[in-house]
Amino acid sequence: MTQWWRDAVFYQVYVRSFRDSDGDGVGDLRGIIDGLDYVQSLGVDALWISPCFTSPQVDHGYDVADYRDIDPLFGSLADMDDLVAQAHRRGIRITLDFVPNHTSDRHRWFQQAVAAGRGSAERERYLFRDGRGERGELPPNNWMSVFGGHSWTRVPEPEGAPDGPAQWYYHLFAAEQPDLNWRNPEVVAEFEDVIRFWLDRGVDGFRIDVSDALMKDPDFPDTDGGWPVIPKHPDGEVHEVYRRFRKVFDSYLGDRMAVIETGADDETVAGFIRPDEMHLAFNFRFVKAGFDAGHLREAIDSSLAANARVGAPTTWVTDNHDTPRSVGRYSQGTQLLGSYVPATTAAADFDEARGLQRARAMALLLLALPGAVYIYNGQELGLPNVDDLPESALQDPVWEKSGRTNRGRDNCRIPMPWTAAGPSFGFSTAAQTWLPMPADWGRFAVSAQEGEPSSMLELYRSALRMRRLLPALGRANVEWVDSPEAVLRLRLNSDGEAVEVLLNTSPAPVPLPAGRVLLASADVSAGSLPSDASAWVQVAQ
Ligand code: NOJ
Repeated sequence: MTQWWRDAVFYQVYVRSFRDSDGDGVGDLRGIIDGLDYVQSLGVDALWISPCFTSPQVDHGYDVADYRDIDPLFGSLADMDDLVAQAHRRGIRITLDFVPNHTSDRHRWFQQAVAAGRGSAERERYLFRDGRGERGELPPNNWMSVFGGHSWTRVPEPEGAPDGPAQWYYHLFAAEQPDLNWRNPEVVAEFEDVIRFWLDRGVDGFRIDVSDALMKDPDFPDTDGGWPVIPKHPDGEVHEVYRRFRKVFDSYLGDRMAVIETGADDETVAGFIRPDEMHLAFNFRFVKAGFDAGHLREAIDSSLAANARVGAPTTWVTDNHDTPRSVGRYSQGTQLLGSYVPATTAAADFDEARGLQRARAMALLLLALPGAVYIYNGQELGLPNVDDLPESALQDPVWEKSGRTNRGRDNCRIPMPWTAAGPSFGFSTAAQTWLPMPADWGRFAVSAQEGEPSSMLELYRSALRMRRLLPALGRANVEWVDSPEAVLRLRLNSDGEAVEVLLNTSPAPVPLPAGRVLLASADVSAGSLPSDASAWVQVAQ
């Protein structure tokens, strides 16, 4: 088995925002096909495609109504087959988003559950409970939804249903995303079948949404602050589900894989990527670390140590569709405190030049560390957050569900600029896009950066090219070299070759080690590494 995923570079395509082929202002699958030459020119190994299944789009596809079909907004099953074939022809693997925690409220199962009434087998596929109070008029407990507001919604009983208190269903996210009952074997079997459906079509794997929260405490106890109780049994329940999934993956040729989304601590995360469970887990500690040498070092050490105990590689990631873009975050250097939290960067505090310098510096750290890497579309262009969208343009359900107190995640989901001019900068033939693109977005366009040696895009291309050529990059053990506190200095050794990676978060330049500079995020011609910069230096072994 090659286990290609252990050190693969994945490129996350947020379908709505990557490229639009049919002029409706929303990205689609044929748009991804049109963008494959570009993806290939980056030198990545695989795509992660955000949910594109049939969905009312309440949470932009994370509310799936049919797991075995493509939403017409994005194309058709034939388009997906074509995308898989065309990507494979270029040596690029395709992974899809798998959303098992909840379905859409328009999913056939949920509609059947509402219609069938209390006590039915149909309701057993979800988490229905009697309400509290004399007639069940109060929610079953005090848990809150991640998006804001209550996590229970009441349903009317169908005519002729047996008498009893009102019933409510549980939703960790929006009311339109009812949670499934993963203790029901029928649910497990259905999703095994969904996995097979896509693996049969040639898909190489999945990213698993909200992977650690499938099981809730079945007693639904009230909690301080209304946080849900997700039992953490390292050997029970939810792990059995992943062991079942793993058997499905392993029954296919071609080294299929899954990466899990979980915000849990490193030890708990490692429990999900044991050899008989899933393959990779996002490293959210690294995402949240901020541009701070101490926090970065802790995040690197702790995830490497936890994963080493289970023999799994680590993933390195700074950006995704739920998190303010790192150019904005690093501009201030601060840690990110939670997910689904809007940028703390009021647009006024944002220092673009500094944010870009630091994001460049982080790109070389990301691509040197041993393990898999995830790059979020637009990260390679250095896109900043768009924090000044007018309220009328906001699309993320978080905005409304939080009672308009949280502007949500639209700031990092603005469509990609491809050309410096033209309607929507080459993203679409339409001038109106699903989220408006800033008037000066053309300066970040692919065409504006291509062939420009000092651009973010060319930095990513060079780094990815070198990573493929030099075994020390992305594959070696990390050895720390003594350095001042604000400087990360690590050494990567591999057969006859050693590369040092330096990241300078201090305000002053620091000397570079003797050796050959392979790549630097800033000008190092003076022989030292400037503040907010990083370099790869080939050194004697
Ligand atoms: C995590 C996804 O990344 C996010 O976009 C979504 O809103 C939630 N899970 C709910 O599915």
